Amino acid sequence: MSEQAMSEQAMSEQAMTEQAMTEQAMTEQAMTEQGTGRSVENDASAEIEGNGLPVGDSTWVERLTSVRHEPDPHGNAPVASDLETMLTVAASVPDHGGLRPWRFVVIEGEGKRRWADALEAGLVALRGIDQPAAVVAKMRGKANAAPCSIAVVSATDHHASVAAWEQAASAACTGYALVLAATGLGYGAVWKSAAVLDTEPVREFFNLQTNETLLGWVNVGTPARLSRAKLTRSPEIYRQTVDERVTRIVD
Ligand SMILES: Cc1cc2nc3c(=O)[nH]c(=O)nc-3n(C[C@H](O)[C@H](O)[C@H](O)COP(=O)(O)O)c2cc1C
Repeated sequence: MSEQAMSEQAMSEQAMTEQAMTEQAMTEQAMTEQGTGRSVENDASAEIEGNGLPVGDSTWVERLTSVRHEPDPHGNAPVASDLETMLTVAASVPDHGGLRPWRFVVIEGEGKRRWADALEAGLVALRGIDQPAAVVAKMRGKANAAPCSIAVVSATDHHASVAAWEQAASAACTGYALVLAATGLGYGAVWKSAAVLDTEPVREFFNLQTNETLLGWVNVGTPARLSRAKLTRSPEIYRQTVDERVTRIVD
């Protein structure tokens, strides 16, 4: 593209941005003038029609703090279209520079047997060959805790100008996005990990490159019954965390 064409394009993009900002300001002002007293900025539930912005949905927000089911180990894996949706939601996380610094490995069916082997080999690499049978069984069992597991791999581009920690943060967001999407679709979902994540056999199983780190995996499937602790859990526990962990700077 010629320099002149590039500069014309930049000017036209700027004009479009300014126009969009003006339109949004007009919409907000119109809403206030109509007596709603709401603006996009101060009320996330404001309903805005026709300009492409989403309509607020407080029920959806409330569900984010409702208890989440774990998957039933003997249940069904998500159907293909739901799995695609979960992965697509995960790919929509905040991503500075659009680097997509993550990838996923879906493990189902027979793949779980090979994964159990890798976990066991990882245990031996970490703790030595003489492991009690129960410890080995527990480690192998992690591969069979759900009908489907989605391993989350952080893949950092060390040549990018975006800091490595920002890329790792983006990758970590995908794990929670998977949990939320799976829960929203009616599945049980939980993010799990193990001490053997960084052992050679496990790295090899997931074909991890030197710039990659396994962040654990999200187990997904038919929801299991809630544990007693979860049955009695109230979202109030999160409210208390807010009081403890938030400092407000307002003047
Ligand atoms: C990176 C990561 C790894 C985790 N690994 C485990 C794990 O191995 N075992 C476990 O019980 N919980 C693990 N958790 C916590 C669970 O995902 C989950 O938060 C916890 O079981 C409570 O359930 P809830 O989030 O549905 O309330 C992990 C969370 C994260 C973010």
